[in-house]
Amino acid sequence: MAEIISIVSQKGGVGKSTTAINFSAALAVAEKKCLLVDCDPLSAASVGMGVKSANRTLTLYHVITGRASLGELVIHTHLKSLKMIPSDIQLLCAETLLSTEANKEKVLANLFKDIKAQYDYIVIDCPPSLGLITVNAVIASEWVLVPVQCEYYALESIRYSLKMIEILKNRLGLDVRIAGILLTMFDSKEKVSRKVAGQCRRHFKNLVFETVIPRCVSLKESPAKGKPIVLTDVKSAGALSYLRLAGEFLGKSQSRRAGVNR
Ligand SMILES: Nc1ncnc2c1ncn2[C@@H]1O[C@H](COP(=O)(O)OP(=O)(O)OP(=O)(O)O)[C@@H](O)[C@H]1O
Ligand SMILES: [Mg+2]
Repeated sequence: MAEIISIVSQKGGVGKSTTAINFSAALAVAEKKCLLVDCDPLSAASVGMGVKSANRTLTLYHVITGRASLGELVIHTHLKSLKMIPSDIQLLCAETLLSTEANKEKVLANLFKDIKAQYDYIVIDCPPSLGLITVNAVIASEWVLVPVQCEYYALESIRYSLKMIEILKNRLGLDVRIAGILLTMFDSKEKVSRKVAGQCRRHFKNLVFETVIPRCVSLKESPAKGKPIVLTDVKSAGALSYLRLAGEFLGKSQSRRAGVNR
């Protein structure tokens, strides 16, 4: 049965889509059956995976409106073990539509029930807001991964995301866990990077992944090639860091499955 991991931050440009693409690709390289779900109407993860707009005519919007089944949306990617549900600007309408549904916060959780048995991991790229799409994604999830760019205001943005998850957990009795706070675009030569990374580790302690994603030109360039970095520059620091992240996460996932509380 798949574990669902939502990539969440209301702050824009912190590396959510880059992480969704390259973390799911790294899990696939580790021979895990993965599904990457693009839940952002701006579709950065779909573009970064090379999905042309002609192949994005069906989105979660059509599933929510009952015009398609979730299975119809799944497409192949360049990696055998990684499938994808792309997004399109039409998904903008989903937020409004969801707000009128009876069980408006649990629509995605109910939809994913049907396909969870087919995968080991489902990774959801969320939009940069804590709106209804993100709330739906979190409620459907076993894990939330919070990327944070190593810049000022990082701590505030983490606190917002953690608070929102805490509120949902308490209100709905969810068993969702923080997979980790992920430091992204780290540059050891920049004082601010080192300072923010240190502050995060002091404040959030073992909630912060040991793995750090460095600022890496190949990571910036790989969306233009429509492939994850393991296929465009596997020897780069960016590729190696996402492979390491997958390993670190799989350790947590295995502990959870074995019933060990971390
Ligand atoms: N480790 C990295 N090194 C260099 N560039 C990066 C790295 N991670 C992300 N980027 C670049 O930073 C920009 C923002 O990244 P990304 O789109 O992943 O963020 P996001 O949180 O998904 O943004 P949004 O909130 O708009 O959805 C992109 O141009 C991306 O290529
Ligand atoms: Mg994004």
